[in-house]
Amino acid sequence: MRTVAHLSDLHFGRHDETVAERLLADISEVQPDLVVVTGDLTQRARHRQFAAARAFLERFPMPIIVVPGNHDVPLYDVLERFIGRLARYRRYICTELQPFYADDEIALLGLNTARSATFTDGRISYRQAAALKAVFAEVPADRLRILAIHHPLGAPAGASDVALVGRAAMARNAVTGAGVRVVLSGHHHRALSGSLSGSELVAEGSILLVHAGTAISTRLRGEPNSYNLLRVEPTYVTCAVRAFSGNGFVVAGTANYLLLGGRWKRH
Ligand SMILES: [Fe+2]
Ligand SMILES: [Fe+2]
Repeated sequence: MRTVAHLSDLHFGRHDETVAERLLADISEVQPDLVVVTGDLTQRARHRQFAAARAFLERFPMPIIVVPGNHDVPLYDVLERFIGRLARYRRYICTELQPFYADDEIALLGLNTARSATFTDGRISYRQAAALKAVFAEVPADRLRILAIHHPLGAPAGASDVALVGRAAMARNAVTGAGVRVVLSGHHHRALSGSLSGSELVAEGSILLVHAGTAISTRLRGEPNSYNLLRVEPTYVTCAVRAFSGNGFVVAGTANYLLLGGRWKRH
């Protein structure tokens, strides 16, 4: 069993310092095996915001996997935006835009879905889809395969108003083909989980979608700051949403999922 803390949408520059400190305290108590941050580390991709985000991330003692979000691409600096692209992100946070983590239970790949043009919803490229398949082809069959991206690949049943990443259908096929079972994402600042639904989809039920709320930013969408704490086994995932209560982070809801016959079922 592995525990993964899934954080997203930190938005340094529009963050709450108290919530950030409480989050660090909570993570140090929970002691996950891995921390994953699915993008939007900054509000406007400014140097000081990236510096603050980096200082925050450096305080996690465990392995950490990070991908950028649309807010990590500078909006106003035209040169940086169109030529440098993610230069600041790579300078302050991580040079690797396809970070990978593997141990003897899980394998997790991060992909960058943020684009330099005004694609708020981001995109997955055909090259990234090919890379996804190539990376996971090298992973032993018994590892639980996890993908981390900023923009959602799909919406769980009952979720409304979730804009999906560009080329989502193509990406879902690639994800399914690569044997990925869990997809972590952020972007819309609401915590949700569930299996991919839609009877027309070949991949129906085969991917567990986990969306994170905003961990520490003041850009709330009708729910408190939160992060997801996942306990993962090859065919069983417990997803606890730990939300900020005013004092600290507490469990606000838990969902269990069992993989049966190639499909995730709520358990
Ligand atoms: Fe965001
Ligand atoms: Fe975003």
